[in-house]
Parts: sequence; structure tokens; C-alpha cells
Amino acid sequence: MAKQSAIFRCAECGATHAKWSGRCDACGAWNSIHEEAPISTTPGSGMKGAKGKVIPLTALDTKETPPARVKSGMEELDRVLGGGLVAASAVLVGGDPGIGKSTLLLQATASFARKGVKALYISGEEAASQVRMRAQRLGLADAPVGLGAETSLRDILTTLEAERPDLVIIDSIQTMWSDNVDSAPGSVSQLRAAAHELVSFAKKRGTAVILVGHVTKEGQIAGPRVIEHMVDTVLYFEGERGHQFRILRAVKNRFGPASEIGVFEMTGAGLAEVANPSALFLSERGQPAPGSAVFAGIEGTRPVLTEIQALVAPSTLASPRRTVVGLDSGRISTILAVLESRCGIPFAGLDVFLNVAGGMKVVEPAADLAAAAALLSAREDVALPADMVIFGEISLSGALRPVGQTENRLKEAAKLGFSQAIAPSGTKAEGSSGMSLRKLGDLVTFTGEMFGAG
Ligand code: TYD
Ligand code: MG
Repeated sequence: MAKQSAIFRCAECGATHAKWSGRCDACGAWNSIHEEAPISTTPGSGMKGAKGKVIPLTALDTKETPPARVKSGMEELDRVLGGGLVAASAVLVGGDPGIGKSTLLLQATASFARKGVKALYISGEEAASQVRMRAQRLGLADAPVGLGAETSLRDILTTLEAERPDLVIIDSIQTMWSDNVDSAPGSVSQLRAAAHELVSFAKKRGTAVILVGHVTKEGQIAGPRVIEHMVDTVLYFEGERGHQFRILRAVKNRFGPASEIGVFEMTGAGLAEVANPSALFLSERGQPAPGSAVFAGIEGTRPVLTEIQALVAPSTLASPRRTVVGLDSGRISTILAVLESRCGIPFAGLDVFLNVAGGMKVVEPAADLAAAAALLSAREDVALPADMVIFGEISLSGALRPVGQTENRLKEAAKLGFSQAIAPSGTKAEGSSGMSLRKLGDLVTFTGEMFGAG
């Protein structure tokens, strides 16, 4: 057999390359390509000539019961999972180191265990005593969770075969190593092999598996993205370091809606659920100030109100700053260009800072109009009415495009004491929310009405 040559693989996206280079062509990451030994068992060897068996095929209309789900009792988590944890499913929970993944999962495991789910928590990062200490501090020590500190995949699988738990947490998948694979723990091949073994175990034995993955910055350790395709559900735990809010976001879910979020607050006693995120995100809002606009958004199935803050200041730089936190900076550049060319409001020579209060990330295009309103309000130094919410998408022509779920947005705003809303014309709403709704056709009308400029 011809000797297999080494392969070079990107630790960020998993793409393979014939030779080493400083930058991955596939994802653009720098210094993320590492040499790897080829996997020792070649697929196909031993298959030649052997006959396969015919697999039974079924029709699509075969009756299928919906998958059994177990609720943890932590409502924010259950909703993000699509209504509870599905048996035999594999879930990946990714996030920056130190963001609170271990805390969240220890709390979740304890909740499940108290409901009678046989749960194991395998930590490859912390000693059993460390996890126990944390559990005691969080008041979870009485929960019937089986705790293990191990990194050898073979030992873990042997334990799982013997114990047959309903749920197992692997914290983290990057610390696991398989002796079948000839490379260091944390490499792409180790990560894939470990994830594959554990996911196969989940499917074969009906155990739900939750894998923790650290998002890595420097590329020495492979990131959770390389195993996203192997699991049923991908959740990311995110938040700003300086804020106590944490958001658990579903980015892929084979058993429920994606883009659902759960909101938590990091306290001295672990993560507390936030049942009403809008109230929380708006709680620090003071008197109406220039540069502030309230966006009535939808996150998954739930309306969430957030405050968008803008600051516009004369710049001393040749190319002025555009600092955007919590919104897509590409979209903000587009909005600035539309304001300049369609409405004749230039931002040249001005530094622009834009921020979503509370460390929230907003990805909906419906936030366009609220962002534009915040920018204009900052530039003109005119505060928007304190009881106003704004939503709508801006097209390149400057026209405002209607967005979905208007009624939900308005109801949530009314509940929080807002009384007027600005939305694109074409928005369908019956007005049952009691809000006064002003519909505008394009950005020029909007700037004229709100700021008396054009
Ligand atoms: P951890 O769950 O260990 O993060 P990860 O597993 O994602 O790396 O959480 C680490 C941080 O959380 C740590 O900086 C301290 C903070 N924390 C609290 O503020 N309160 C708590 O009750 C706990 C357990 C942790
Ligand atoms: Mg951890």
C-alpha cells in the first residue's frame, strides 16, 4: 500500500491542505494550520469484494411519535433546547473560556438529576473535588449526579456502557483523547474522533450527550465549529465579560426552532434565569437622551426589547472610527451609506460608535431603522420620545421594508409602558395592542418627520 503522506488541517474550520501555509484559504484564519498524522484505519480496506446487505426502506408516511423530551425545569434552557432535552440526542454547548459553561451545565445536570434522570458529569478540566466544591457552593450537592474526572475516551465509554445513564455531560470535548488517534488532545482529529464516538454512543444507547466546547482564539486547540455538523443541536453561550448577562443561543436545532435564546444572569450563586429580558435590558435606561432608540425585536419565539445607543463625534482621523458592538458592522456601514446618499445626511469626518445596551447581540435586519434612528438622534442632538419603539428593515434604495411578528413586538412594548411605535408602511397590525402605530414608507420621510431634516 502506498504510504499516506501527512495532512495539514486548519484548527478553525477543519479544511485540509496539501501543504502548510500561514493562512487558511477556506476560512481566512491565520496561523491555524497544523500537521496531522493520517488516521491509521483507512476506510475501504477490507471492504473490497465483500457483499453488503440490503437495508430496509420505509415510506415517509410511517407513523412516528414525536421524540420523548425531558424538561430540566430551567425554563430558559428548556426553551432553547426546543421544549426540553431529547433522548438520544447530541448537544454541543460552545462559548468563550470562563463565560460560565461549566456552571450552567452543572446546574442543568443537577436539575435533570432531581427530576429522576440518571445523569453523569464527566469533567476533563477540573478535578472531582473542584467540581464538588462548586456544586456545594451552588447548593447542588444533594442532587444525585454521578461525577467523574477523566480524559481517556476509552475509559469514559467503558464507564458509560456499564452505567447506561440517560444523560452525560462531557466538559470539555477538547480535553478528551482517544488512543486510536495518533495526535495530541485538542487537535482536529482527536476532537472529531471523540465527538464521533460519543455521538454514536448516544444514538446506539439512547443516552443524551452534552458536549462542552471552548471557542478558541489562537488556533492551537481546535474550536467547536469542526464538530457542529455531527451533533443535533448547537448552542452558544455568549456575553460580554463586563456584564453579568449571559445569553444561550441556539444556532442549529434538529428538534426545535433555531435562533431561540435563553437569558441568564451570573450571580454569586451561579446563573439565575431571566424570565423577562426586555425589562432587564431596559432597566438602566434613564431620562431620554440623544442617541438612544428602543428596538422592538424578536429572538426566536419571544419578543425582546433592547436599547440601541449611538454616539457621533467629530473625528481627528483621516478615516473616522466606526465602532459597533452588538450589531453587524457591515449592516451599519450600509445604513450610513444609505443615510448619506438617499437622505443627504453625511457622516464623513465623524466618528461613529454604536452599541446595544446590556451586552445583547442583535442579528435581525429589523433593527436597521432603530439603528438609523439612534445615529440620527446622536448626530442631530435630539432625543427621541421616551415612550417610542422602532423597528423595520432599510433597503438600499432607502425604502422601509415591513418585518414579521408586528403584533408580538407591539404587545411586548405596550406591556413595558411604551405607547407609540414607528414601523414601515406595509406593516400588518390590527392595533389590538393599544399602541399608536405610525407607518412610514422610506427613510427620507422618517428623518423629515423625526428630526425635521431631509
Ligand atoms: P465557568 O463555568 O467555570 O466557565 P467555563 O466553564 O465557561 O470556562 O465560570 C467561570 C466564571 O464564572 C468565573 O470567572 C467565576 C464566575 N462565577 C460566578 O460569578 N458565580 C458563580 O457562582 C460561579 C460558579 C462562577
Ligand atoms: Mg469550564
